[in-house]
Formats: sequence, C-alpha cells, structure tokens
Amino acid sequence: MQPINIGLMGVGTVGGGTATVLKRNAEEISRRAGREIRLFMAANRELERAREVVGPDVPVVDDAMQIVNHPDVDIVVELIGGDTIAKELVLKAIENGKHVVTANKKLLAVHGNEIFARAQEKGVMVAFEAAVAGGIPIIKALREGLSANRIEWIAGIINGTSNFILTEMRDKGSSFADVLAEAQRLGYAEADPTFDIEGHDAGHKLTIMASIAFGIPMQFDKCYLEGISQLDGRDIKYAEELGYRVKLLGLTRRTDAGIELRVHPTLIPEDRLIANVNGVMNAVMAKGDAIGPTLYYGAGAGALPTASAVVADIVDVARLLTADPEHRVPHLAFQPDRLQDTPILPIDEIHSSYYLRIAAADRTGVLAEITRLLADNGISIEALIQKGADADGSAEVVILTHRVQEKQVNRAIASIEALDSVAGKVVRLRMEELNG
Ligand code: HSE
Repeated sequence: MQPINIGLMGVGTVGGGTATVLKRNAEEISRRAGREIRLFMAANRELERAREVVGPDVPVVDDAMQIVNHPDVDIVVELIGGDTIAKELVLKAIENGKHVVTANKKLLAVHGNEIFARAQEKGVMVAFEAAVAGGIPIIKALREGLSANRIEWIAGIINGTSNFILTEMRDKGSSFADVLAEAQRLGYAEADPTFDIEGHDAGHKLTIMASIAFGIPMQFDKCYLEGISQLDGRDIKYAEELGYRVKLLGLTRRTDAGIELRVHPTLIPEDRLIANVNGVMNAVMAKGDAIGPTLYYGAGAGALPTASAVVADIVDVARLLTADPEHRVPHLAFQPDRLQDTPILPIDEIHSSYYLRIAAADRTGVLAEITRLLADNGISIEALIQKGADADGSAEVVILTHRVQEKQVNRAIASIEALDSVAGKVVRLRMEELNG
C-alpha cells in the first residue's frame, strides 16, 4: 500500500517533536495505521534549522503554500500558530481536498465554525487533539469515550505557565511579579506572557472543549476571561488556611438557563486530585451523567507530549482515509446539523461560591454590618475568619459563601465597599467544589 504523505508546516518546538516521534516510532505507528506514514515535505521560515531537524531526505521549503498545493501531500500538519497565515493555509488545504491536523487552539476557537463547515463541504477531516491540553487525549475522551453521556461540566487546569506561577507563589510565598520573572528566565513563560497569564490560551482551549461536550458552535467571544496577574499572595495563603488551593481554572457548565464558559482564578478544596496538579502539568475533569466525574492528567505542552497528540491524529486520519465522510466521527462530536445554539451566560448570571477578603475597621459592630449586607442580598456564609488587627486598627475579614448568583455577590460587594468602616476594594475570588 502507498505510504501516507505528510506535509509539515512549521518546524519549531512541536514540529521538531513531531518529526522525532514519526521517525523514532515509525514501525509502531505503521503497525497501528496499517500503512507507512512518511514525512514527505516540510515548510519553515528558517530553512537551515528545519533541515537539521527533518534530515537530508525531506525537502524543506520556506513557503508553506507549496505544501498545501502539492498534489502528493495527503495530510497537512499545521504547527505555525496564530490565526492569519495559518487560517489561509488551512482553508486552502481544505479547498484542495487535503486532510488537516492542527495544534492551533486560537484558530479553531475563533474561526472553527467556518473551518469545520468548509471541511464538511469538502469531505475532509480536521483533527485537533494537540490543540487542547497538549499530550492529554482529552478531545478523544470527550468526543468518543464519553459519547454515551450527557456531559454536565468540564473544569480544567489547561495553562501550564499559569499553573507553574501559582504553584511557585504557594510553595515559596513569592509575589506574582517575582515568579513571573523567574518563569521567563527558565523559559516557561514567554517574553510577552499576556496570552498565558490573562487566560486567553485557557479560554481558547475551554471554548473547544465546551463545543464538543455540549454540541454548540465555537463562541470564544463569549468566554469570560480573568487571569492571574492581579492575584495577591495573601489570598493564596488565606485560601490554604481554609483548606483550598487557588488554580487558574477553565470551567464550562450546562445549566437550565444556558452555558457557563469562564476562565478565572478559582479556590478548589485541597483534597481534590485536581487541586494537587502542580508545576506546568495540566488536568481536565469532565462530569458525565452516567459515568460521574472523571479526571485526565498529563503534560499540557512541550515538544514530545504535544507531538504525541499530533501523531495520534495523523494515525486516526490515516485509518479513516477510505471511510465515507458520513461514517467518520463528527468534528465537534455531534452531527453538524444537530448543533444547538444554547446561549452562553453573561458572567453575572453564573452561580458559584465565593471567597471575599475585606479590609475593615477592627471595632464593635463592623462584622455585623458586613454579614447583614450579605444576608440582605440572599448570601449565606460558609466560613469566616478575621486576620489580626494592624496597629492602625484595621483587620482583614475573609468570608467563604455558599453558592449564589454572581450578580447578588456584586450587589453585596458594592454595598460593603460603601461602608465607612471598610477600606478599599473587596477582593473577590470564585470557589468551586468540583465534587460531582
Ligand atoms: N502556553 C501554553 C501553556 C501551552 O502554558 O500551557 C500551549 O498552549
């Protein structure tokens, strides 16, 4: 049987890992795919660097369009990133009837609806396991492994950079700024870390998971994003004293009113497995009505872990090349004509528990005033601690609430901040039990 020809676009970290895995495990991979999978051609801006990686037998070009337009390329692997050139290349590949494997979360979260519609029309596959949580086969798990279930919610630590920073802040008691500088020095964080620390990267991944879990179109523009850059080390410490860890969580939940789609720092009980996912590692919990809560853990980035997902997609595509398009697993798990336009809820309509830190005067009746305002807004308190009074007579009150709608908490916070006895802004973090 003819080998499958791979056109690799982008020979950076993941592209290099993909070339390595295809070569190193060629025998195992062809035993699985039933055909030889051959790196046929590569494209990279820096030709010499790419040649060193793919070796002398693979032609390297600097214009990726040559791959997309080459008649002998069967599967185009897009590892360029971003949503400008990559989008053009992927759409052209589809138009040319080529199957696509991509690790590009932004491209799919923002333009996925258009890309999948075009792929559907042309009867080609667009596979994207590597786009979410690197090497963890979470797309496969959600799309196929849990297909008997009505999926209720997904919660994930899906940005390794942020998780590394939060882990260091907790372990060393360092500030966000100090840990970020250290992460940049070690190469864990980009020179411009905005994408990772402000939740964009996690939001892209969450958007993709929500789409395949609930059978809804990609709606990244409706995903609520709140990063970790404003997080104060004190809150990590107080949360710990109350039995919680703070993680940047991507959370999507189906409710009667619509779908919650949100990324933000979150308190999680310390005895949950996911609360103990540390450093750059990723983990995703998915709750199905039949199976209950499930947990998937592994490396969310890096050359070989991400290549593991890219090559698994190549094998999948190779196996299904001869299957009729209608007999393949649908891109978004649900049949394209059965996607539902369930609304994404605005953030003030979500339900959560909350952690509040209030700087208040340490005098008689202040706590009573605060708790009265919470009660007036229908908010029930789960726990409360007061951190020692300062010489200036102010104290910090930390309150954990029971579950409530966010707009009620916002109203209560506004009233609390208006009290004479309260100084500055109330710190508000969301808290999730994740107990199924
Ligand atoms: N920058 C991401 C992270 C990996 O820190 O997890 C690629 O999405």
